[in-house]
Amino acid sequence: MEKISRTKIVDVLSRSDFGTSVNVKGWVRTRRGSKQVNFVALNDGSTINNLQIVIDLAKFDEEMLKLITTGSCLSVNGTLVESVGQGQQAEIHATGIEVLGTADHQTYPLQKKGHSIEFLREIAHLRPRTNTFGAVFRIRHHMAMAIHRFFHERGFFYFHTPIITGSDCEGAGQMFQVTTMNLYDLKKDKNGSIVYEDDFFGKQTSLTVSGQLEGELAAMALGAIYTFGPTFRAENSNTPRHLAEFWMIEPEVAFNEIEENMDLAEDFIKYCVQWALDNCMDDIRFLNNMFDKELIARLEGVLKHNFVRLPYTEGIEILEKAVADGYKFEFPIFWGADLASEHERYLVEEHFKRPVILTDYPKEIKAFYMKQNEDGKTVRAMDVLFPKIGEIIGGSQREEDYEKLRTRTAEMDIPEKDIWWYLDTRRFGTAPHSGFGLGFERLLLFVTGMANIRDVIPFPRTPNNVEF
Ligand code: 4AD
Ligand code: MG
Repeated sequence: MEKISRTKIVDVLSRSDFGTSVNVKGWVRTRRGSKQVNFVALNDGSTINNLQIVIDLAKFDEEMLKLITTGSCLSVNGTLVESVGQGQQAEIHATGIEVLGTADHQTYPLQKKGHSIEFLREIAHLRPRTNTFGAVFRIRHHMAMAIHRFFHERGFFYFHTPIITGSDCEGAGQMFQVTTMNLYDLKKDKNGSIVYEDDFFGKQTSLTVSGQLEGELAAMALGAIYTFGPTFRAENSNTPRHLAEFWMIEPEVAFNEIEENMDLAEDFIKYCVQWALDNCMDDIRFLNNMFDKELIARLEGVLKHNFVRLPYTEGIEILEKAVADGYKFEFPIFWGADLASEHERYLVEEHFKRPVILTDYPKEIKAFYMKQNEDGKTVRAMDVLFPKIGEIIGGSQREEDYEKLRTRTAEMDIPEKDIWWYLDTRRFGTAPHSGFGLGFERLLLFVTGMANIRDVIPFPRTPNNVEF
């Protein structure tokens, strides 16, 4: 076959220099036609749209043609022709075909008819080849680009925080341990405690739940930073919104107080949603039509309104009133309770009908580092609550007072030997500062309209599930 340099299908589809010879490569989605002419829908991942390859059967070897089945991979030379079919403007009339890889139709799991999303999860190694997951993972890429652009444009520095850590940022004890010790033969002291001196790092270490503590160190030098990396939580919650391994974006800004932190969070999410509408419309339109007819309206809706800003205490009053009026929640609600996603969604979807930033939570249900309010009961926390998702962002103004922070760590049994370096920022040139963490997959749930967080990350890690 004549050697022609490859053109991506996304580019071919928008070309109009009909009559030109081109080469495309991709995977067969469908093949149909008559005894004389066949039509192959070819996809190379560059766009959700397939390219139609028209094959005049008489011109090709019969044995080769048999290998063109759903899932097989082809290199096709052909002439670019204006398409008479609806939808796209160009198709290819094949002059040469090479089968790069066959896909036995008896065993290839992705046949033409639609498969359930649950089945596709079991074949996560092949699901990127479906329209749905192609769309989701292209959007995932675009959202990552949007995030870096947003912060770069605003003068934030991308700061890399460690994945292996000796401290528990959130203090929730949901960490995966990292060790090279022989688990069948652990050395213990006379109290039965494991001796970590001989372990790789000479102390107990884990995978990080958040890059925040190190991010704060950087903010106190570079002014404004953000992290964007994997985080790990060993919480045994099998919900459509929790992963054991997920990606988090954590900006941290010196001199910002909670109001500016809220402004940043709102601008940030709106920028990402606008970016999706501007850059991913083919994929979003597909997801809107396939799964969630209100997706586009919901994305546009978020851009239209200011987010509601509401103290936790007022949020509880609204929820208690809902209960008094007969609304049924699964979990009890009272001042001091941590909100369940049903409560968060009630505020957003039923009561305000727009995103809500809830602030000033009871200190007992929040992390040690949050700035304490004058009332002695609440801290300057802010959670951004979203339709369909519940909490999408968690953040706060940080306690900058050395004594107050030290007292709080002691109250919460956080060993000073693990975070002396963090406390040092409050000893040397402390300053007000604030930040937050956005769960990348929660953002993707919102932008794609997918219902389960396992379907917006290529290879989900959840309890009892680490295949691929
Ligand atoms: O609210 P979280 O626990 O906050 C922190 O980790 C802070 N250190 C952030 C900061 O202030 N720099 O987590 C932040 C966000 C949540 O709002 C949620 O979107 C996401 O991370 N998240 C998860 N996403 C998927 N699976 C899980 N198990 C998640 N846990 C938290
Ligand atoms: Mg949180």
